Amino acid sequence: MIIAIDGHSSCGKSSFAKRIADELDILYIDSGAMYRAATLYCFENDIIHAAKLNVDVLIQSLDKIQIEFRKIECSTKPQVFLNGKNVEDKIRSIQLSSMVSEVSVVAELRKRMVDIQRSFGKNQSVVMEGRDIGSVVFPDADIKIFLTASPEVRAKRRFDELTAKGEKVSLEEIMKNLTHRDKIDQSRETSPLIQSEDAILLDNSFMTPDEQMVWFRNLIKT
Ligand code: DC
Repeated sequence: MIIAIDGHSSCGKSSFAKRIADELDILYIDSGAMYRAATLYCFENDIIHAAKLNVDVLIQSLDKIQIEFRKIECSTKPQVFLNGKNVEDKIRSIQLSSMVSEVSVVAELRKRMVDIQRSFGKNQSVVMEGRDIGSVVFPDADIKIFLTASPEVRAKRRFDELTAKGEKVSLEEIMKNLTHRDKIDQSRETSPLIQSEDAILLDNSFMTPDEQMVWFRNLIKT
């Protein structure tokens, strides 16, 4: 079974997908973590400099960017590894988030990511979340969900998440980042964020995680 969850930035796709994966005991893949790891590579190798991405150098460097997921003992969430190193703790900062959509626009990078993502669905069930999972990665997915929430609710959730980790950010900064990412994600030429015709829309602005699971259980019952 392939379950595709797409939607806007910070609308809770990861938590939702993870709970579904735990409940059904299937693999969970956070495809955004792959684009974030590629963005980290760009920061660490001066391919992003002064908030500018050097697209040509990124394309030339693609062979040097090895991204994979590995299970570790203390977490049930598969961790994203960049060139052999677990980078989960480094990829969610506001600085990195401010450039990830620019990196994700690069078609050559996307092609590689999509190949890896498809390989996860070959011999096993998977719930994968991102922006183009139902439209491009798994157009024949058994269940497609398009998740969204109001920008205000999304910004507040991300603010709480980052401040709980000790990051110093303002709500305005987060709102600016979300709006910026939504705009790029929806307007890029390759695999823009769109709701596929056969995807079911869920606005979770006023739903708790438990209520979302009730909604999901009803969905798979039908
Ligand atoms: O889900 P996220 O916010 O962690 O994703 C980070 C960025 O990665 C997002 O702004 C756009 C990009 N992305 C993408 O282009 N395609 C995907 N399938 C997943 C994420």
